[in-house]
Amino acid sequence: MLSFKQAFLEVEKFIAEADFSGNPTELYDPISYSMNLGGKRVRPATLLMVADIFEANKLDALHAAMGVEVFHNFTLVHDDIMDEAPLRRGQDTVYKKWNRDIAILSGDVMFVKAVDYFLKLQPAEKMGRVLRVFNKTAAEVCDGQQMDMNFETTEEVSIPQYLRMIELKTAVLLAASLKIGAIIGKASEEDADNIYEFGKNVGIAFQLQDDYLDAYADPRSFGKRVGGDIIANKKTYLLLEAMNLANEEQKLELKSCLDGELSDDDKVNRVKAVYDQLKIPQLSQLKMKTYFDRGMEALTKVNVAQEKKQPLMDIAEELMYRNI
Ligand code: IPE
Ligand code: IPE
Ligand code: MG
Ligand code: MG
Ligand code: MG
Repeated sequence: MLSFKQAFLEVEKFIAEADFSGNPTELYDPISYSMNLGGKRVRPATLLMVADIFEANKLDALHAAMGVEVFHNFTLVHDDIMDEAPLRRGQDTVYKKWNRDIAILSGDVMFVKAVDYFLKLQPAEKMGRVLRVFNKTAAEVCDGQQMDMNFETTEEVSIPQYLRMIELKTAVLLAASLKIGAIIGKASEEDADNIYEFGKNVGIAFQLQDDYLDAYADPRSFGKRVGGDIIANKKTYLLLEAMNLANEEQKLELKSCLDGELSDDDKVNRVKAVYDQLKIPQLSQLKMKTYFDRGMEALTKVNVAQEKKQPLMDIAEELMYRNI
């Protein structure tokens, strides 16, 4: 049985030993840069934990873990262009450090490299199953990202639409990572599907916390620009719930912040003042708990001894209360 910490260290070691170099160097340097910036390694480490529960071949598990982490980092490189984000894990984002064209093309190569890792899996039949899960997921992440971008300029976004968007842009990748761990091992289809449901619900909770932290994290430790979602008019749970609960005056205030020409700092402070009046942080934590509980319920259905599932429950809980 692997704890998250053990799995994390295995992922770190495998990444440290990987060689992402190549020519032209402008194209490959950003890959080593973003892969070695740190990060929580949630997807690859939990993939290893599930693979271990289902007695997978270790090297296959490590290759698949690399595949999902390289893909995740690719999405971040492109996401930071779309979100005009200056900081990632406390350092310059790739498009800021190099430029936009390099960030686009390096990201493309990262996607190819992710697939390369999956192509190493054996036997071919398992590789095929894993690639089908991965490809479906990769397309869904793009769907979610496009919805996220569309919503920036859509006035009426409902909470169910928001939840579907975060399921696609974020939750399905965690779900697929766990399912891939199960497939590489000897899990039944039913167990693999319940593991996917666990990952999906915990993933939705994970993005709810990401949205909360984007407004409320401590800038000294967060590693990303605090308030970036408010500045970009992102339709986060915080904003949508605030719009739903606001009285006329608060609605006007929110609208004038979104449409106005305020400085970034003023905009963030004024929007957060309305969030605070309406107790939105507390509501977002409650919503997160709902999805966390659903995830736990799905994990209960997985047919393995409780003690083997405990480390997954522990890390899911830690992720809910994380501050980065
Ligand atoms: C950031 O993912 C993007 C989201 C889906 C919220 P993480 O919060 O897992 O980022 P790192 O890899 O730990 O930096
Ligand atoms: C990113 O969501 C999801 C993907 C990268 C697919 P965010 O835009 O909220 O992620 P952060 O906050 O920049 O990490
Ligand atoms: Mg984004
Ligand atoms: Mg972003
Ligand atoms: Mg975010």
